[in-house]
Amino acid sequence: MSDTPLSVAHVASEMTPLIKIGGLADVVGALAAEQARRGHRVTVALPAYQAVSLPAGWSSRALDSRPVPWGMGRELARFALASGPDPRLRVLLVDHAGDRSFFDRPGIYDDPRSGEGYPDNAERFLFFCRAALEGLKLLKERFDVLHGHDHQAAWTMCFVRTHELHTPTFKDLATVFTIHNLGYQGIYDPWVLGLAGLGGELFYPASPFEYWGRVNYMKVGLVFADLLSTVSPRYAQEIQTGGEFGAGLEGVLARRAGDLRGILNGIDDAYWDPAADPYLAHRYGPDRMEGKELNRRALIKECGFPSAPEMPLVGMVSRLAEQKGFDLIEQGADALLALGARYVVLGSGEARYQDLFRRLMAAHPDRVHYRSGFDERFAHLIEAGCDLFLMPSRYEPCGLNQMYSLRYGTPPIVRAVGGLADTVQEFDPLTGAGNGFVFQRFDAEEMLAAVRRGLATCRQPGLCARLRRNGMGQDFSWRRSVDRYDALYGEARERVAAGRIATLESVRATI
Ligand code: ADP
Ligand code: GLC
Repeated sequence: MSDTPLSVAHVASEMTPLIKIGGLADVVGALAAEQARRGHRVTVALPAYQAVSLPAGWSSRALDSRPVPWGMGRELARFALASGPDPRLRVLLVDHAGDRSFFDRPGIYDDPRSGEGYPDNAERFLFFCRAALEGLKLLKERFDVLHGHDHQAAWTMCFVRTHELHTPTFKDLATVFTIHNLGYQGIYDPWVLGLAGLGGELFYPASPFEYWGRVNYMKVGLVFADLLSTVSPRYAQEIQTGGEFGAGLEGVLARRAGDLRGILNGIDDAYWDPAADPYLAHRYGPDRMEGKELNRRALIKECGFPSAPEMPLVGMVSRLAEQKGFDLIEQGADALLALGARYVVLGSGEARYQDLFRRLMAAHPDRVHYRSGFDERFAHLIEAGCDLFLMPSRYEPCGLNQMYSLRYGTPPIVRAVGGLADTVQEFDPLTGAGNGFVFQRFDAEEMLAAVRRGLATCRQPGLCARLRRNGMGQDFSWRRSVDRYDALYGEARERVAAGRIATLESVRATI
């Protein structure tokens, strides 16, 4: 139990088990559930996308509709409140009842017909933020903490300090904004400011709303939140250094260096548990590893690989995006194939990487298996059935798959960035310490050397067993990280009690 049960409202664009694109969903879902278990009252505001599905044991009821201020006019929002087995955790589904149906569409961020982001994403997530606050007001409760996640939720941080400053629902409210990925900022043309109900006079160089002549949603969140966090200690340092990591916001972050914390994500270790995984035909654990071998055989069969000759399996489950380091796979493809291993890749995303894996599979069907689309079961089977798991990311705010693979006894091979650096340590065959294989520079040769070390270790049963045990014995659960959010909330509330909140006056200059 938490010392001080709080009423916490998360605002996020994804949440497991209702709707998932990537790790954001897993984190919001598992953090909220763990907070509720600890006695907090937790409400998650989520867009009511067409694809949201309520899991078994959940139900929802409609709430009133409300007009939401929108530029000079109003747009109607519809709300529903969903909950599952834990009554302390509720989901506020925020829908748009206007003609353009911002959320009742087949895609989440991207239009599946074009594969591109919806052209009105600026409006969709601005509306979501304004409407989410209207929905929270409908609940007729008080909230202690508003916790926004990534740029889709960023405007809530501003609205509670501007339009909603005197709203009783949000009296004494503390705000926390978490960066899950600085590579996606939500940068749009300045006219959105009018829709947000803010005058053009606020759009001047270095204002919270100005970013190289445009509006940057992530920046708005970074400027207005009482406290900031990101999803690993290493990424918290990296994003203040500029270049690929800071992604142009390093100046804004430098001003808030004292307010930024790195809190490592946890994993839902009941859902990602090889000993109880409903997606696996064969369950296993550190003391009974036979099941892993059976899953391995099942995976080989499902991939259509020949059963002989025997070769180690290297897995990847990932969004196919530049961030994830697929350029190294492209550069090193021939050398990877020469290593005497097989590769299983699950992921959808950018066409150029889909083409790459389709080509590799067509040329080497006995060595490479690629599956596109989103496939939860296959993701679990890859974690369970592979010998090694590869994540050569350019940058990685936290990364969850390396923690899943550690738990499944599938040692990860990672580049030492962000949360990968914080969770994976190079295995030392002499001391037996370490849980995976790590390389430093974004360089195909370095990656290949790490894969070679991994394969060499796999071929030595004693060392391999030790390496697997090291990872399987680690605790990456939310039970470990959730205290740090409690501390963060406490700190933010103290600031608010002392009157230290952002106002349009106090944030006039942001760099
Ligand atoms: P990111 O959020 O940057 O995509 P993370 O490692 O934090 O990366 O989280 C990715 C999550 O999405 C993991 O749970 C992973 O298993 C899952 N995932 C990614 N692609 C797929 C896919 N094609 N099918 C099933 N799960 C996927
Ligand atoms: C982002 C990051 C990933 C992180 C996830 C959850 O999608 O790319 O590294 O694990 O958010 O915080």
